[in-house]
Amino acid sequence: MGFLVILKDISTRGKRVHREGIISCINTFQIIATMVFCFLIALCIIGLGLFISDRMKKFLLSREDYFYILPDQNNSVINLPSDDRKLSSFSSFLSFEDWVAPPENLWHSMSDEELMWRASMAPNVAEYPYNRTPKVAFMFLARGRLPLGPLWERFFQGHDPRLYSIYLHCSPEFTEEPPESSVFYKRRIPSKVVEWGKASMIDAERRLLANALLDFSNERFVLLSETCIPLFDFLTIYKFLVSSKYSFISSFDDPRPIGRGRYNKRMWPTLSISDWRKGSQWFETQRKIAVGLISDRKYYPVFVTHCKPPCYMDEHYMATLVNKQNPEMNSNTSITWVDWTTGGSHPKTFLRRDISETFLNQIRYDSGNCSYTGNSSSSYSYCFLFARKFHPSTLEPLLKITPKLFGFDPKEYTN
Ligand SMILES: *[C@@H]1O[C@H](CO)[C@@H](O)[C@H](O)[C@H]1NC(C)=O
Ligand SMILES: *[C@@H]1O[C@H](CO)[C@@H](O)[C@H](O)[C@H]1NC(C)=O
Ligand SMILES: *[C@@H]1O[C@H](CO)[C@@H](O)[C@H](O)[C@H]1NC(C)=O
Ligand SMILES: *[C@@H]1O[C@H](CO)[C@@H](O)[C@H](O)[C@H]1NC(C)=O
Repeated sequence: MGFLVILKDISTRGKRVHREGIISCINTFQIIATMVFCFLIALCIIGLGLFISDRMKKFLLSREDYFYILPDQNNSVINLPSDDRKLSSFSSFLSFEDWVAPPENLWHSMSDEELMWRASMAPNVAEYPYNRTPKVAFMFLARGRLPLGPLWERFFQGHDPRLYSIYLHCSPEFTEEPPESSVFYKRRIPSKVVEWGKASMIDAERRLLANALLDFSNERFVLLSETCIPLFDFLTIYKFLVSSKYSFISSFDDPRPIGRGRYNKRMWPTLSISDWRKGSQWFETQRKIAVGLISDRKYYPVFVTHCKPPCYMDEHYMATLVNKQNPEMNSNTSITWVDWTTGGSHPKTFLRRDISETFLNQIRYDSGNCSYTGNSSSSYSYCFLFARKFHPSTLEPLLKITPKLFGFDPKEYTN
C-alpha cells in the first residue's frame, strides 16, 4: 500500500513537490519498516515463548513418560493405562476356589525334583477354611492297559466324582488313551521306566503320591497294581478309609534273613537295625504320612546306596520310613489281601477257575484279625478292602459275580 502511494505521488506532482514527496516518502518508509520490524520481533518472541512452553511441558511431564515408556520396550506399552486388555489381566484375581481346585490337567512338565518340592507343601493351619469333602486317590501302578479295567469302571460307575480321583503310572511308551466315557480318561501322570525291585519302583510310587497330593481334596491314597481287585462297593471302601484314624502301611520287624538279614551295617547311623522294617509294597496312607514319604531326603539316598538285591527297596523303604516318621499313625498292616501260603518268593496268582462267590466271601470276611482298626467298638467285620493277584482271565467271572456280590449298581449289571 505504502509503495503504491509513493508511486502515485511521483507520477502526479511537480519537481518541488517531487522533492518534498521524496522526503515524506522516506518518512513513510521508515515508519512502515519499523512496524514490520516490530511485527517480526513480536512473532519471534511469540514463537520462542511457544517453543519454551512446549519444552517446559515436556520436561514437567517427563516423569510420567518415564513411568510408562521404558527405554527397551515396544511402543505398544505406551498405551498401558488405557489398554483394556492389560487392565483386565490386572483385575482377574484368583478366587479362593481357584487356589484349592484340583489341577485341570494331570499332564505337566515338572521334573521329579520340582514335583516333590511342590507337593511337599502342606498347610500349617490344621482346619480347612471351607467345606472340604475328603477324596480317596486310587493310584494305579501298571505297565500299560489295566487288564481288570472294566471291573474298576463298574466299581466307580455312578459315584460322585467329588469323592475320588484316579492316577495312572504306566510305562512311558504306553500312550493309549481310553475313551472319554472311561474313568481312566486323561488320568495318566508323566511316568518313567520302572524296574521291579529297584529304586525306580519307589520313584514311581513317590511320583504317584506327589501328583495326587497336588489335589488338596485327596485325603487317602491307595496304591494298586494291575492285578488288584476291590472287595467291596465304592461307598463301603470310601467310608472305611475316610473314617479311619490309621494308615495301612504294612510294617513289621522280621527277624529272618529275608527281614533283618537285609539290613546293611553301613546304613548306620542314619538307620539302626531296630528301625529296620519289612512290609508289602501295596500301601494305603493318609495325607500327612504321604507328605512325609515324598519329602524324605534323609533315608532315600541311604536305601539307594545300600539296599540292592537281594535287598528289595519296595519291601523295606516305605515300611521303615513310616516307622521313623509317623509310627503312631500307622496300623502296620496292609489293607490289600494276598495269598502267601503257597510259599516261594511270589504270592499266588488266581486264575479263572479260582473265582467263585464262596472264595470271594472267604477273602472278604474270613481272613485275619482286624484289631488294627484300633477301635473295639468298630462295626467292621472285615480286614481287607482290596485283593491281589488276579490274572487277566479272571475278568469275565469277576464281572459276572461281583456286581451283585459287592453291591455295584444293579441297574448296570446286564451280563
Ligand atoms: C517388539 O515387538 C516385536 C513383535 O511383537 C518383538 O519381536 C520385539 O522383540 C519387541 N521388542 C522389544 C524391545 O521388546
Ligand atoms: C505300629 O508300630 C509302631 C512301632 O513300630 C507303633 O508305635 C504303633 O503303635 C503300631 N500301631 C498300632 C496300631 O499298633
Ligand atoms: C487273631 O488274633 C489272635 C490273638 O491275637 C491270634 O491268636 C490268632 O492267631 C489270629 N488269627 C489270625 C487268623 O491271624
Ligand atoms: C470308633 O467307632 C465308633 C463307631 O464306629 C465311632 O463313633 C468312634 O468315633 C470311633 N473311635 C475312634 C477313636 O476312631
